[in-house]
Amino acid sequence: MKKIAVLTSGGDSPGMNAAIRAVVRKAIYNNIEVYGVYQGYQGLLNDDIEKLELGSVGDTIQRGGTFLYSARCPEFKEAEVRQKAIENLRKRGIEGLVVIGGDGSYRGAQRISEECKEIQTIGVPGTIDNDINGSDFTIGFDTALNTIIDCVDKIRDTASSHARTFIIEVMGRDCGDLALWAGLSVGAETIIVPEVETDIKDVAEKIDNGIRRGKKHSIVMVAEGCMSGEDCAKELTKYINVDARVSVLGHIQRGGSPSGADRMLASRLGGHAVDLLLEGKTAIGVGIRNNELTDTSFEEIFRSNEHKFDFETFALANELSI
Ligand code: F6P
Repeated sequence: MKKIAVLTSGGDSPGMNAAIRAVVRKAIYNNIEVYGVYQGYQGLLNDDIEKLELGSVGDTIQRGGTFLYSARCPEFKEAEVRQKAIENLRKRGIEGLVVIGGDGSYRGAQRISEECKEIQTIGVPGTIDNDINGSDFTIGFDTALNTIIDCVDKIRDTASSHARTFIIEVMGRDCGDLALWAGLSVGAETIIVPEVETDIKDVAEKIDNGIRRGKKHSIVMVAEGCMSGEDCAKELTKYINVDARVSVLGHIQRGGSPSGADRMLASRLGGHAVDLLLEGKTAIGVGIRNNELTDTSFEEIFRSNEHKFDFETFALANELSI
């Protein structure tokens, strides 16, 4: 293998730059030329591709976002459009493509590997949602978690001063991991996630009991995939008379300098992606399980539902917030 390319696609996540850096440095270390594709699959179509050098990734490990930029590219679902992208790789003699992103981004990579046997593709899980099968963690999850914790710790100060109930809406798409981990970490009274059916009446009762016991405030952590913070507040006030405020943390969760855990994860996964290309592997997503690097075929990633929600920890969070 002499030439590879790397792109970031879908929603950005802190640590994507660290992953690009690992791909670039590991490849150059192995005498492979690396090309950066700007704006994800859109850049692949537009031929927005540039050779990267060791220095291209200098001073990037600590930066949030992605210096290769990201974009959503719905046209990539069309076979003709993909052929154009494949041609742009072929004409440069690129034999391997590393795609850093979520599961939608993996689908594009899978199609490329099916439609062009000379180009190997490897996926690196980059999303704050932590929703990729085949990996315990995705790049950006830990940083987003810590951002939420930081925000909610601040919200708690004012919640306490005014004896208010705060409903915090967090991202995660259809996955409740951010809400669960953040909820437990901030000591939220209630965590509402798509994976577990929640009766708002019970939530209201819990808040009410807390107020009767002299609790100064309550934090309700709600995952966006379950309901909006506003809807949650409306539902709650059907049952109890609380001074509720809603805080939608929004895209602040996607920004910021990556945490140490994310820099480590991104570096290990980026390096592993290059190892797999060197071994001739294709259509595989790299991951981490029990702190060991893993390889899972795209097919398996799309088929299985192994990234299970941690019901045991969810139960613990409830037990600790009585
Ligand atoms: O997948 C990452 C994510 O931040 C989700 O948590 C969220 O639902 C979505 O992207 C937001 O997408 P956009 O940035 O396009 O509004």
